[in-house]
Amino acid sequence: MNLLRLGLNLVALRLLGVGAVAPSGPWDAFNYAPETRVVTPISVRAVEGDVVNAEGLLGAASGAEFTSSGSWVVLDFGKEVGGLISLRFDTVPSEGSSIALSFTESPQFIRPDASDDSSFPDASTTYDGVLRVQVPSSEGLWTQDADSLRAGFRFLTIVSNTDESVTISNVSCEISFMPHVDDMRAYTGYFYAKDPGFEDDEDFLTKLWYAGAYTVQTNTVPVDTGRMVPFAPRGICSAWANNATLGIAGPIIVDGAKRDRAVWPGDMGIAVPTQFVSTLDLLPTKNALATMFSKINPTTGALPESGPPLSQLGSDTYHMWTLIGTHNYYLYSGDIGWIEEIWGNYTKAVAFLEGKVGSVGLMNVTGLRDWARQGGGGINAEGNAILYKTLTTASDLANALNKTSLASSYARNAIALKARFNEVFWMEDVGMYRDNSSTTLTPQDANSLAVLFNVTNTMEQKKRVSDGLMANWNDLGPLPPELPDTISPFISGFELQAHFEAGSDDRAIDLLHRTWGYMLYTNLSVESTLLEGFTANGSLAYRANVGYNHDPAYTSHAHGWSTGPTSALTIYVLGLSVTAVQGSQWSLAPHVSAGGLTEVEGGFETTLGWFGASWTLKNDSVTINVTTPEGTSGTFRVPNTLTGSGENTKVTVDGEDAVIKDMQMELSGGSHVIVVS
Ligand SMILES: *[C@@H]1O[C@H](CO)[C@@H](O)[C@H](O)[C@H]1NC(C)=O
Ligand SMILES: *[C@@H]1O[C@H](CO)[C@@H](O)[C@H](O)[C@H]1NC(C)=O
Ligand SMILES: *[C@@H]1O[C@H](CO)[C@@H](O)[C@H](O)[C@H]1NC(C)=O
Ligand SMILES: *[C@@H]1O[C@H](CO)[C@@H](O)[C@H](O)[C@H]1NC(C)=O
Ligand SMILES: *[C@@H]1O[C@H](CO)[C@@H](O)[C@H](O)[C@H]1NC(C)=O
Ligand SMILES: *[C@@H]1O[C@H](CO)[C@@H](O)[C@H](O)[C@H]1NC(C)=O
Ligand SMILES: *[C@@H]1O[C@H](CO)[C@@H](O)[C@H](O)[C@H]1NC(C)=O
Ligand SMILES: *[C@@H]1O[C@H](CO)[C@@H](O)[C@H](O)[C@H]1NC(C)=O
Ligand SMILES: *[C@@H]1O[C@H](CO)[C@@H](O)[C@H](O)[C@H]1NC(C)=O
Ligand SMILES: *[C@@H]1O[C@H](CO)[C@@H](O)[C@H](O)[C@H]1NC(C)=O
Ligand SMILES: *[C@@H]1O[C@H](CO)[C@@H](O)[C@H](O)[C@H]1NC(C)=O
Repeated sequence: MNLLRLGLNLVALRLLGVGAVAPSGPWDAFNYAPETRVVTPISVRAVEGDVVNAEGLLGAASGAEFTSSGSWVVLDFGKEVGGLISLRFDTVPSEGSSIALSFTESPQFIRPDASDDSSFPDASTTYDGVLRVQVPSSEGLWTQDADSLRAGFRFLTIVSNTDESVTISNVSCEISFMPHVDDMRAYTGYFYAKDPGFEDDEDFLTKLWYAGAYTVQTNTVPVDTGRMVPFAPRGICSAWANNATLGIAGPIIVDGAKRDRAVWPGDMGIAVPTQFVSTLDLLPTKNALATMFSKINPTTGALPESGPPLSQLGSDTYHMWTLIGTHNYYLYSGDIGWIEEIWGNYTKAVAFLEGKVGSVGLMNVTGLRDWARQGGGGINAEGNAILYKTLTTASDLANALNKTSLASSYARNAIALKARFNEVFWMEDVGMYRDNSSTTLTPQDANSLAVLFNVTNTMEQKKRVSDGLMANWNDLGPLPPELPDTISPFISGFELQAHFEAGSDDRAIDLLHRTWGYMLYTNLSVESTLLEGFTANGSLAYRANVGYNHDPAYTSHAHGWSTGPTSALTIYVLGLSVTAVQGSQWSLAPHVSAGGLTEVEGGFETTLGWFGASWTLKNDSVTINVTTPEGTSGTFRVPNTLTGSGENTKVTVDGEDAVIKDMQMELSGGSHVIVVS
């Protein structure tokens, strides 16, 4: 009886998405999520001025004594954290004295007189300033006020503003993200591979998978911790406040830990697949999407570009990302009840887009705001590639609701759009898509998305686009023609998937090494979570002259939109993905030998159960193990990197010769061992 009850409880826990079923193993060492909600600095990074026993800040035993004004100590939390600081005043000076705290993600902005910027970008790089703390009149524990939450940082600098002695100990930070989860390390997915091709660190890919997962956790926040708008004014004290309401319910997923701390549906196009394969923590996504639908313009059907309090309007692409995100949420969760709830507003939002498709048969993009790319208006390729995905996913959702004639109508419109897209944008001589009919500019976004969303007609086209995209690379990755002097890990996350889709597996791994290898290891970064973007030469001045006012301190170092590798490693390198709701149908298509890998394992959970796989390549023969829930079914695709034309390929499943048609075969749920030789 007890066993039965235990079993039922486990099922109930899994339905809530809180099951921790990823097996434990060496990969756990790479999980960045803290073990406890209260974390402490791991070391003293620097001491300036007159400080006795600086190490005393790290524990509760004996404090650090500051004896002159302007003396300071830099503490290192070892990785990105965020939350309210507590510390103990062991001895206090006379009344009226103060200390100051300054925070930064990047070590480049460790300074006693300013934090990195989060409130507003300013070329001074010091808009945010410091948090001035009045020393209390008697000793004891002090905790930071909730309004002044600093929600993304690694380094904390403590400065004394008095010549009298002040002694401080027991510095800690109570993590504010993932407020609804007890064990932040209890992932539902995992990934593990040894990468022979990356300099100095064969664990790079595993580390990267976990860096992406942790980045999205740091973006999962209580609903009342948004950046204040209008932005906090510059003054003598901290010019930031993170106490704004972010949506209709929490927890909620935002774009970045430090900033903007607002819902951005385009960013979720990358962040939510990360969340799915790592934590299955879909409630924050539902809350974010529901917030966007609640703010639909009742007259036009336009959705906002971002959630409150920013509530930016006027982006056709982000409007579409809310709709694509709705399909992702349904695919991963199976929550058809919620789809029914928002269906009226959802279809209104699709109609808003179809109203922009004119006689050319393509959408005229008039809501120009986007991921910061330049141009983008009119009959534009990126917008129309995203519209194609919007229509195919809308058709799928209409089918899920048994609205079959609406589903066919969306599907027909998608087919017509795809045909026009190729007629208008494809440049046969170049082998890429152009931005619009009055330019030959070949954007990174539209070309990546056209391949990923299958707006291409042929595999040959995909391969040519993959070649063309690589022509934009420098040592650190792709330079988008549509946003000069920039490397965008957001758009490069789509490019990464496009190379895998094109079968350019080695190129995809090369891109990981360049762009994400730089981000994760450069000492300019927080070396744990993933950077919003950087310039062509690797400096932090991302978007310096496109909205960010030449402020490199404003760049976010924990941005969910940069986590494309996490889902791509699971979906393409391991090869396991869901193709119908909750994984009732799935695909097993490992990109064997990508980047010279020989051993990969991993998996994830859905409400139906565990999906796990592993593969080992030895002597031109690959052994693949797969486990999926009973009652599901999947398609196994024979890895073509291994078999070339496929002529002499032999495949066995569970020891029996298998019949392969068009390089693929159907599999039932349960466990199987497949050998391809
Ligand atoms: C990063 O490393 C370089 C080379 O070792 C060094 O000159 C620089 O000061 C370091 N930067 C930071 C922010 O630690
Ligand atoms: C947020 O905090 C700021 C600074 O403390 C304060 O002025 C403002 O009233 C607070 N806003 C809300 C909604 O509590
Ligand atoms: C040290 O800090 C922790 C976390 O804020 C707190 O629970 C504990 O009571 C503090 N200990 C002392 C002696 O102040
Ligand atoms: C649908 O849109 C209206 C505004 O037209 C809004 O008031 C309502 O909350 C939305 N409903 C849902 C379920 O999003
Ligand atoms: C697109 O819409 C804009 C704004 O309404 C209009 O000026 C432009 O002529 C339209 N372009 C096309 C190709 O219809
Ligand atoms: C066409 O694309 C170019 C290059 O991106 C851009 O400069 C131009 O503004 C676009 N045209 C329209 C009508 O938006
Ligand atoms: C759609 O129809 C199928 C088969 O009749 C039924 O099982 C399912 O519940 C229906 N779905 C919805 C959302 O009504
Ligand atoms: C991609 O497009 C091609 C050409 O239109 C089509 O044959 C193929 O079935 C599509 N693939 C998927 C997965 O939809
Ligand atoms: C790197 O690029 C930035 C932005 O374009 C520029 O300001 C900076 O001078 C460059 N740094 C180097 C070392 O070339
Ligand atoms: C596959 O499963 C077999 C039998 O269960 C096991 O011996 C083998 O180690 C597994 N291989 C991999 C690569 O996980
Ligand atoms: C792999 O090939 C080598 C040399 O051809 C052979 O000695 C070895 O037994 C093979 N290993 C397996 C596992 O088949």
